[in-house]
Amino acid sequence: MTPSEARRLRDDLDRRGGRLVFTNGCFDLLHAGHVRYLQEARHLGDALIIGLNSDESVRELKGPTRPLNGECDRAEVLSSLRAVDGVVIFNGKRATPLIEQIQPHVYAKGGDYTPETLDPGEKAALDAAGTDIQILSLVPNRSTTGIIQKMTASESAPAPLRLGVLGSGEGSNLRALLDAIDSGRLNARIVAAISDQEDSGFLNIAKSGGLPSHAVDGGPNPRRFDNAAQQHVADILQKQQVDVVVLTGFMKILKEPVLDAFAGRIVNVHPSLLPAHKGATAVQDAIDAGDKVTGCTVHLVTREIDAGRILAQAEVPILDGDDAASLHRRIKEQEHRLLPEVLSQWRKIPG
Ligand code: GRF
Repeated sequence: MTPSEARRLRDDLDRRGGRLVFTNGCFDLLHAGHVRYLQEARHLGDALIIGLNSDESVRELKGPTRPLNGECDRAEVLSSLRAVDGVVIFNGKRATPLIEQIQPHVYAKGGDYTPETLDPGEKAALDAAGTDIQILSLVPNRSTTGIIQKMTASESAPAPLRLGVLGSGEGSNLRALLDAIDSGRLNARIVAAISDQEDSGFLNIAKSGGLPSHAVDGGPNPRRFDNAAQQHVADILQKQQVDVVVLTGFMKILKEPVLDAFAGRIVNVHPSLLPAHKGATAVQDAIDAGDKVTGCTVHLVTREIDAGRILAQAEVPILDGDDAASLHRRIKEQEHRLLPEVLSQWRKIPG
């Protein structure tokens, strides 16, 4: 629409006792905040005209990287809205000449302004035309700048680490990983949760967290994890394109083909300060040895049990009167902090 067509619309409405509403802006990336604002503006009168900043004027206002969309595209998108009766493109930072020409009955402006903070030139033109100035409240958390920031942040963020987590017990470390992911401390996705124990806390947490969960049958001998089971685990991890395999109290010994396929990419958390107290009774063993301090270790898994490269450790004092349960509880508190921390640094760990 040309400015004179907009003026004709104003005069027509005026003759019929109607009111023309005018607002102006860049409308570079249309979002729900804009749409709601324009609907509200339209309800202040009988037709709504938008003064749209030209590409040149957007550059002047917002810098050389804007607009994202050219003026013709922006005008086309706006014109397609039910609330909008016409769009007039204007040059320059201010809509003053357009206001002077159209002389709208109502001027709508977003709530980051007050009548006092309007541009003095625009305000004078509105006052001279007897225009009713209406400040509309902004829709919270919606802005073009915010959308652009989110888009650029997600473009530059590294892809989340794809984790395959294995456990046989309570599952508290799995829960800690989920919490760390939820809170943004760990940029990862758990793409497989695997257990040899169908009724374990571990699998219940996995299922209620909506994780792809797998109960793997270890075979007829409960103390072993047979070849078919080893292959089954490898298949799941490979199909899910797992970056790092995380063992959190997985009580079966992993062998080929998993160890080969994920060499240097399998991590275990163990409840002692390795190399002290390897094996399944590490917490009780520290108490029995009369140690004053034990802790937990995050380490790489190799063929030799609890012997791969140590990535991080945390100490836990052994208190008078501690039994295995009370001590293990405090060790786990450290595990829940340490394991997500190590994984969050995974890409920086030298190979
Ligand atoms: C942890 O203490 C871990 O160190 C050990 O097994 C326990 C697993 O606990 N390897 P949870 O199932 O994660 O609660």
